[in-house]
Parts: sequence; C-alpha cells; structure tokens
Amino acid sequence: MFNFRDQTVVVTGGTRGIGRAITRRFLDAGATVVATYTANDAAKDEFQDSLGPAARNLHLCKFDVADYAQVEAFYKDFDAQHKNFSVLVNNSGIRKDAVLAMMRPEDWQKVLDVNLTGVFYMSKLAVHRFMANRYGRIITITSPASRFGFEGQANYAASKAGQIAMSRSLSKEVASRGITVNCVSPGFIDTEFLAGLSEKLRKEYLVSIPLKRFGTPDEVAACVLFLSSREAGYITGSVLSVDGGL
Ligand SMILES: NC(=O)c1ccc[n+]([C@@H]2O[C@H](COP(=O)([O-])OP(=O)(O)OC[C@H]3O[C@@H](n4cnc5c(N)ncnc54)[C@H](OP(=O)(O)O)[C@@H]3O)[C@@H](O)[C@H]2O)c1
Repeated sequence: MFNFRDQTVVVTGGTRGIGRAITRRFLDAGATVVATYTANDAAKDEFQDSLGPAARNLHLCKFDVADYAQVEAFYKDFDAQHKNFSVLVNNSGIRKDAVLAMMRPEDWQKVLDVNLTGVFYMSKLAVHRFMANRYGRIITITSPASRFGFEGQANYAASKAGQIAMSRSLSKEVASRGITVNCVSPGFIDTEFLAGLSEKLRKEYLVSIPLKRFGTPDEVAACVLFLSSREAGYITGSVLSVDGGL
C-alpha cells in the first residue's frame, strides 16, 4: 500500500511478535530495515530464515536499548553502513508484572529503563539525524495500560503512559523540522508477550473487547506503516488505537 523504497527504517525488537510483523511489512514495501533485538538469537535466526529472498534488505543488530553506550555504538555503526534513515519504530518492550505492594524495586526500574528510557535514547539520537534531513517519522508502540492501568502492571502502565507524554512533547519540539512523532496503541495482540497470561485472565480480557477477539501483529504493523508514510504528514502527537474497540 505504501512505498518505502530508498528509505531506511529502524525497528527495535524487530525480530519477534509485533516488531517482526512491522519489519516484514516494511521489507515488503521496499524499505531497508535494521531490526534490533537484545538476547534471543534463535528467534532472530528463525525470522531471518523464514524471509527467504526478502531478507536481502534486512540487517540485524543485537544490543540493549536501555544502555546509552550501546545505543550510541549502534548509531555510529548504523551511520557507517546506511543512508536515508527516515523512520524509527520504538517497539521493544518488556513486562515484569506484580501487584505494586509486592513489586521488587529492580522490576519497577527495569521496565522503566527498557520501555521509557530506551525510547528516549533511541529517539534522541534519531532526532539528531532526522533534523539534518528535515524529515523523519518516529512511531512508539505504547499500550492501553497507559489509560486503563491494568492490575499488576503499575511499572508497565507508568512506562507506557510516559511514552505517550514524551512523544507529545517531542512532536512539538521537532514539528518545524518536518519530523512527526506518534504512538500506536495495540490492544491484546496474540504474541509471546501475552503467553504469560492465565486462561482466566485471557477469557476476562476477551469479554472486554467489543470485536471479541485478540488482534494480530500484522494488524498493528499496517497502522505503523500508515503513520510512517509520507501520506501521514499532517498527523503528529497522536495515539492511534488498534484494540478492537477496547
Ligand atoms: N502483545 C501485546 O498484546 C501488546 C499489547 C500492547 C502493547 N504491546 C507492546 O508492543 C511491543 C512489542 O510487543 P510484543 O508482544 O511483540 O513483544 P515480544 O514478542 O515479547 O518481543 C519483544 C521484542 O523486544 C525486544 N527487547 C526486549 N527488551 C529489549 C531491550 N532491552 N533492548 C532491545 N530490545 C529488547 C525483544 O528482543 P529479544 O527477542 O532478544 O528478547 C523482542 O524482539 C512492546 O512495546 C509491548 O509493550 C504489546
């Protein structure tokens, strides 16, 4: 539907789940994609093998978005190898659920570090590059937890609400440079991310979804491509919900 030929896209957490579908869609739309991950080499290899010839425009990079030195090193290598960087998708994310009273301080901190500080690091260094080109798209994958505050997810909800607040501030700072900054908020999407949910909770969640099913990673990816396209140039500071009416 959209043409990303001659554009280079970075998708964090781009080898599994929703990120994998986003990477795949960008490749199909002609982009060069740098998909990042942090630990799961087996998933990375399986994804790469599954692509066949489509993998020729895929580059893979392993680092931790929550470590500023690693993010700086990533961008340094990236600059040496790629041009026409125009889209950053901040997709990587983790959950470490527990009710707040029982939540370990390190689990609070880790989720904030990866989901919020990681988006800050990746976006900060992307903006430097986009400013020079007077064009860029930043899309961050947030969550309905930012609004609803599901129980056992105080750390996750805070990180996801923070992503939206950060994106709105950034959208105003960079609008005059032709850079748009938006969030996509997937509801319950069938990925490994949901695998830890009990059957009881899965059933409860289904009842609350007007469209009565979990979404697919590809349905999220389609919306990310739209917001990343030149055609979406008048949309910034927004949150697009892809949640079955949640
Ligand atoms: N699934 C849902 O229902 C749902 C709903 C709303 C929002 N979301 C959001 O959508 C995004 C993707 O979710 P998903 O379900 O696709 O997750 P997933 O299947 O668990 O994949 C997460 C990806 O993030 C990467 N990652 C994790 N920690 C990282 C770090 N410190 N540095 C760099 N990369 C890291 C993982 O790398 P490895 O493979 O190396 O571990 C993996 O590629 C997340 O931000 C999540 O909060 C998901």
